[in-house]
Amino acid sequence: MKETYLQQFLSDSARKAKRSEIRELLKLIARPDVISLAGGLPAPETFPVDHLAEMLPRVLKEHGASALQYGPTEGDKGLVAELAKLMADDGLPDLGPDRILVTSASQQGLDLCGRVFLAPGDTLICGLPSYLGALGAFSACGASLSGIPLDDEGMQPDLLEARLVNLRCEGVRPKMIYLVPDFQNPAGVTLSLSRREDILSIAREFDLLVLEDSPYRQLRYTGETVPSMKSLDRDGRVISLFTFSKILFPGLRLGWVVAEPEVISRLVMAKQPVDLCTSSLSQLVAREFLKSGMLTEQIALTRELYTMKRRVLLDALDREFDPAWGVTWTKPEGGLFLWLKLPESLDAADLLQMALKKDVAFVTGSAFHCDGSGRNTARLNFSFPSPEQIQEGVRRIAMSVGRLIAERPATGKKTISKDKPKFASAESGHPLDQLAWNLTLTELVE
Ligand SMILES: Cc1ncc(COP(=O)(O)O)c(C=O)c1O
Repeated sequence: MKETYLQQFLSDSARKAKRSEIRELLKLIARPDVISLAGGLPAPETFPVDHLAEMLPRVLKEHGASALQYGPTEGDKGLVAELAKLMADDGLPDLGPDRILVTSASQQGLDLCGRVFLAPGDTLICGLPSYLGALGAFSACGASLSGIPLDDEGMQPDLLEARLVNLRCEGVRPKMIYLVPDFQNPAGVTLSLSRREDILSIAREFDLLVLEDSPYRQLRYTGETVPSMKSLDRDGRVISLFTFSKILFPGLRLGWVVAEPEVISRLVMAKQPVDLCTSSLSQLVAREFLKSGMLTEQIALTRELYTMKRRVLLDALDREFDPAWGVTWTKPEGGLFLWLKLPESLDAADLLQMALKKDVAFVTGSAFHCDGSGRNTARLNFSFPSPEQIQEGVRRIAMSVGRLIAERPATGKKTISKDKPKFASAESGHPLDQLAWNLTLTELVE
C-alpha cells in the first residue's frame, strides 16, 4: 500500500507523528566499525544471562501456568510487595499496594501520565534539555512544552519561577513539571537537595504536579545520594517513575510508578486499554531477582563497570581536548551520559558530520531542546562502548573539534546555516551524510 493512499485513513495524531531521528541514526550506525557514543544502551555485559537461564525453569516450575497467564492491571501482588520494600530503603516507608503501579517500563509511565493529565493545548514544564522519549510522549498528547534551562545543579528554580509568573500573566496555567532529578538524560546533572525543595515549594505555590522520572537513581558512582522528590513530597503532588531497564535489563520491559492512590487509580484506568497488564513472566522474574537479593548484586556489578567507564571518558576528554578550545563538559556523578558544550560559535551538527566520517557517533544536543536551542551541545554515552572505544572515539571527536575551531570564521558566526547544506547528500556515498544533515534541520521530538 502506498503511503500517499494510507494518508486518508490516518488519525490526526498519527499524521503528526514523527520517527525518532535518533533511533534512525542508531540503526544506521549499528555497524561494527562505528564507535557509538550515541545511544543510551546499557552495557550488554551487565545482563544476567546465566542467572536468568538458571532462574526461568525455576520460576516456571514454581508458578506453573499462572506465569504465562494475564494478570491484574495493577501488577503482581508479590512483586508490588517487593517493590514496596525496595522503596522503603530509599526513603519511602509504608507504601501500600494502592500507591504502586507496575508498568511496561518507564516509557509507559510517561505515556500514561500524558494520557491522564495532558490534553491538547495544555502546558508542561520541562528541562532544557530533556529526555526525548518524554518530550515525544507529551507532544503526542498535544501538550505545549515550556523549557527551563539547566545548569550543573539541574533545573534553575529562579528561572522556573519567573517563567511561571510570565505564563500566569498570559493566562496560562501549566499542569506539570517534568524532571529527571538524578543523573539526568541527557545532561548527566543531578538536582541538588536545596533545588529539589525550592522546586517543590514553587510547585505548591503555582499548584502544579511534579513528574519525577528516575531510571538512573541507583546508578551513583561518586558523591552522596540526594533524597528523591517523592520522599520530600508533603502534599502528594509528586508522581515518580522507576524502571528495571538500567539496573537489570531493558528487554524485561518492566517499571513502576509511585504516587497517591487517586493518581494510581487513574493510571490503572489509562493502562487497561493500552495493554491490559504488564507481562506476568517479566514480573515474576523481577520478583525473584528482588527476593533473592540478586538485584543488589546486579546493581553493584553494574555500578563498578560504569564507574570505570565514566573515569575513562573523563580522562580521555581531559587528555584530548585543548583547554584553549573553550569546550566544557559535565562531570556526572552517576547515570549513563555526559554533556558537552562547544563554544557558542560552533554547531554540534557540523561536528557530528565530521565525526561520522571518522566512524564515530554521538547525539547533537539540540535534539533534546523543546525550543530547538542548544545547537552547540552534544550528549556522549559511556555505558555501551568499551573503554578502548571511548578513548578512540574521544580522540577522533577531539581531532574534529580542533579542525572546526581552526576553520571557524573570525566573525565567530555559526559555521552552518539552516538553508545552506554544507555537506554532501546521501548520494555522496557515505550513508550517514543525509542523516547527519537531517539532524541539523529537524526540531526533534523523539
Ligand atoms: C529519563 C528516561 N526516562 C525513561 C526512559 C525509558 O526507559 P524504559 O522505558 O526502558 O524504562 C529512559 C530511557 O532511556 C530515560 O532515559
